[in-house]
Amino acid sequence: MPPPPGTEVCALDEVPDGKARQFVYGEGSEPFRLLVLRSGERVWGYVNRCPHFGTPLNLEPDRFLIYDHSRIYCVTHYAMFRFDDGFCEEGPCAGDALTRVPLAVSERKIRIAG
Ligand code: FES
Repeated sequence: MPPPPGTEVCALDEVPDGKARQFVYGEGSEPFRLLVLRSGERVWGYVNRCPHFGTPLNLEPDRFLIYDHSRIYCVTHYAMFRFDDGFCEEGPCAGDALTRVPLAVSERKIRIAG
């Protein structure tokens, strides 16, 4: 489960422009992995779980494969997802999508939206 609405994730500038970061909540083998994408002042949140095999999009912490501030690849089989809506445009799960986690930015802080 994602953290409750209002939870502060991080400062906006802790996610580099055009990049992604992962934030992990909970313990054990199945913690909640929040993927935060940023382009300029815009951010998007998704569950960091590829719809193909259910694995995270990255293999190492905060090392994501990103193209042109607008696409993120799963490093396992290179499915390509749009920042805007998490839709998979190419790859083995084309037509599927990442699961959205609504985020809000205020006072340059990223929070879980309600
Ligand atoms: S696990 Fe992501 S493309 Fe296969």
